[in-house]
Amino acid sequence: MPRNVHFIIGASGQLGTEFALALHQAGEQVVLSDIKPPELDSLKDLPFECMDVRDADAVANRMAQHGTTHVHHLAAALSARGEKEPQWAWDLNMRGLLNVLEASADSKKIAKVFWPSSIAVFGPKNGPVAEQNGHRIPETVYGISKQAGEQWCAWFRQHRGLDVRSVRYPGLIGELSPPGGGTTDYAVEVFDHLDGPTPYSCFLSKDTVLPMMHMEDAVGAMMQIMSAPQGRILNSESYNIQGLSFDPETLFAEIQQHVPGFEAVFAPDFRQSIADGWPDELNDSAAREDWGWTAKVGIQDLVQRMIVSKRQSIPFPNEG
Ligand code: SER
Repeated sequence: MPRNVHFIIGASGQLGTEFALALHQAGEQVVLSDIKPPELDSLKDLPFECMDVRDADAVANRMAQHGTTHVHHLAAALSARGEKEPQWAWDLNMRGLLNVLEASADSKKIAKVFWPSSIAVFGPKNGPVAEQNGHRIPETVYGISKQAGEQWCAWFRQHRGLDVRSVRYPGLIGELSPPGGGTTDYAVEVFDHLDGPTPYSCFLSKDTVLPMMHMEDAVGAMMQIMSAPQGRILNSESYNIQGLSFDPETLFAEIQQHVPGFEAVFAPDFRQSIADGWPDELNDSAAREDWGWTAKVGIQDLVQRMIVSKRQSIPFPNEG
């Protein structure tokens, strides 16, 4: 049987780096594409296409040249940068998605497409827990693009017979690559400020609870939904998935368990109002029931992994 060929768009980004590595390590054939080459040494020898996803011809031609069977479209402008550069963010997020969906629907070889949606589709009227079909009138350019993107994916499924699958990611936290331009970025960048020399300045208030997820679970969700039988994908839009939820104060207290000298101050900026519009957690019972989703990494595990990656060893307070 011919092997699957996974074409990853945005492969040098936060999620793309982790996902490309996981698929490669699982023995899958991957082709990376981005506007900049991968930084991770273990990805540097893999096939790479320098490509702007806004270029429709490039998207169709490069995917076809490699005999692509599975597309993972992970390139996007995130929420905070999107508010600063709304036209650019809209263009990248929407034109990029439409180019990928058109080229995939036109192709006779492409079997499945993965595209991530986000907690940003939810507006401020949900209360703390966002239901699968909760109130979706987003207030950011990023959120509007994800909400519209969900509708476009549903349209391509219904009218062009394209098997496109999607989950709503929360803030993603991983060791391999930094995020860029998101509202949940504090939960990654704080690990670069463990040892001062000044306290870490957090751009959200200490009690801002947001849904978050370790990369192992984020990659696991993508693998799981992409390998589920088509008959198990019952939702016409994107699936809620819940990892863990915490506020900055809780994360920082957990860090202090291992790094007693760690200090933080709180200086909320424009990102606070973005965070205030998002839910604290997501009800993910549909993903659990339909394709068996479950998250594994809790806050203690997450903090330990992040500190170990920065330190290569972890100082426990009661040791020595
Ligand atoms: N991490 C994203 C952001 O903060 C949310 O999906 O924009």
